[in-house]
Amino acid sequence: MSRFTVNNQPTEYRLDPQTPLLWALRDASNLTGTKYGCGTGQCGACTVDIDGQARRACQVPIGSIEGSYVTTIEGLSRERNHPVQLAFLAENVGQCGFCIPGMVMAAAALLRRDADPSEDRIRAELTNLCRCGIYPRLVEAVQRAGR
Ligand code: FES
Repeated sequence: MSRFTVNNQPTEYRLDPQTPLLWALRDASNLTGTKYGCGTGQCGACTVDIDGQARRACQVPIGSIEGSYVTTIEGLSRERNHPVQLAFLAENVGQCGFCIPGMVMAAAALLRRDADPSEDRIRAELTNLCRCGIYPRLVEAVQRAGR
């Protein structure tokens, strides 16, 4: 059994402790905003916040985060749109939209550490992949959200 907090809800998973957090969130908690892209930690579609850090949920066994605080895209935006989401909308970042939840989670974590990141820092730290190629608009949106 693994216990941690998900979107401010104490949560208990009766799953193998090696179960990737991605699948606990999607299959047991029905939090399907966290996406499965590669399953190997490369694409970032599964990015969530764990204790203030952007982490790739497909690479995090649930048994390794006992007592942690996990925030998914659903928790980030429960009451109103987060400034990163508003900036993504304003800059028309989304195309197919599949990578966007992970991008938003990664951008929000970056902006907590640095409210005014340079383009170089955004490109270096937001390593999430997008097959639509939204990277120029992503940089604009992250800088807008920090303002
Ligand atoms: Fe986790 Fe791609 S699905 S990094």
